[in-house]
Amino acid sequence: MRRVYLDNSATTPVDRRVIDAMLPYLTEKFGNASSVHFFGQEARAAVDRARREVAALINARPNEIVLLSGGTEANNLALRGVAESNAQHGRHIITSAIEHSAVRGVCDALEGRGWEVTRLPVYEDGVVRIEDVRAALRPDTVLVTVMLANNEIGTIQPIMEIGQLIQEERARGRKHLWLHTDAVQAAGRMMVDVENLNCDLLSLSAHKLNAPKGIGALFVRRSVRLTPQNVGGHQERERRAGTEAVGSIVAFGEAARLAREELDGRIAHLRALRDRFEAGVTARISDIVFNGHRERRLPHLSNISFRFIEGEGLLINLDMQGIAVSTGSACSSGSLEPSPVIRALGRSDELARGSIRFSLGKDTTDEDITYVLEVLPRAVENLRCLSPLYQQSVANCEFQVSS
Ligand SMILES: Cc1ncc(COP(=O)(O)O)c(C=O)c1O
Repeated sequence: MRRVYLDNSATTPVDRRVIDAMLPYLTEKFGNASSVHFFGQEARAAVDRARREVAALINARPNEIVLLSGGTEANNLALRGVAESNAQHGRHIITSAIEHSAVRGVCDALEGRGWEVTRLPVYEDGVVRIEDVRAALRPDTVLVTVMLANNEIGTIQPIMEIGQLIQEERARGRKHLWLHTDAVQAAGRMMVDVENLNCDLLSLSAHKLNAPKGIGALFVRRSVRLTPQNVGGHQERERRAGTEAVGSIVAFGEAARLAREELDGRIAHLRALRDRFEAGVTARISDIVFNGHRERRLPHLSNISFRFIEGEGLLINLDMQGIAVSTGSACSSGSLEPSPVIRALGRSDELARGSIRFSLGKDTTDEDITYVLEVLPRAVENLRCLSPLYQQSVANCEFQVSS
């Protein structure tokens, strides 16, 4: 059976060149980067090189990069670290209604410990409004955390404008207000430049960039003070204790280098295939709704609600035909919870439950899209024909099933 992987927002395959770069650091160059001898120095030099590449991907300085285990840890360190080190200046955090659970969960946990959290709405297009950020700012606000691009609908948030707003506040004397952005989905799919964005902290995860899972980074601007969450070692300038995962760090560095060098080509490739996919779906399938802003979004992602069907059903049907996609809905205790992100757009439960995320990768081909455009319309039609609601609305269903 042909297999087509359209779930690159969940994770990406590791690039062969990245494996080649990391392999020596799992075999003959196995040293601990903290050791004084030759093996240690070799590992240290490799970590430093990788750090420079990760920094270059986002236009940061190498000493502003904290290497850690991934996007979830980066978000935990950013939010908890800033909240705790600024607690004497205020305990108010502003975030958006559509953050990844790795930010949402930390905000909830801080709320349980006495911090106040304002969750900004995103409206039908899935975009935070700068006026809402301005209105939410309070004298005791210490952190604004809004993702750069959303993982379910791909919408790009106005981080640059929020950053400018925060700079204005600083110019008025507010020294303890920081901006964090989760760029896990954005990196490698759009230009990410911490100077342009005016952000103070930014989270990255290597496995969305064709590198292995379990490695990531937090950009921390030099002016930011952060309470470390992992203590018990001097690594990462005391900001994250633990022996460096040298092989994974080397892989991350190589993936960051490739992403930076190939960015324009990747974006053009992804956008062309995604646009072809969306045009094909629109021409072949009725009663669909595209979720999220049509222009302000990542080039690799398409989120579509199919009326009259459950996204989970479609996901399983496509999986049986070799096509991997995802839904935002979580199957919890036997009931399908509609995606909070799609609900935050003001969509009905029915549309939220019928949503599917198609996320392309740099290795997705034209033939992959042709295959999906062959299979998807039939899968949707078959499922709709099992739906009483659809049967009511379309009397002449070709694939009518007999009871
Ligand atoms: C926006 C966003 N933030 C954070 C994460 C978590 O990253 P990691 O899997 O590296 O912990 C993800 C992963 O799905 C994500 O999409």
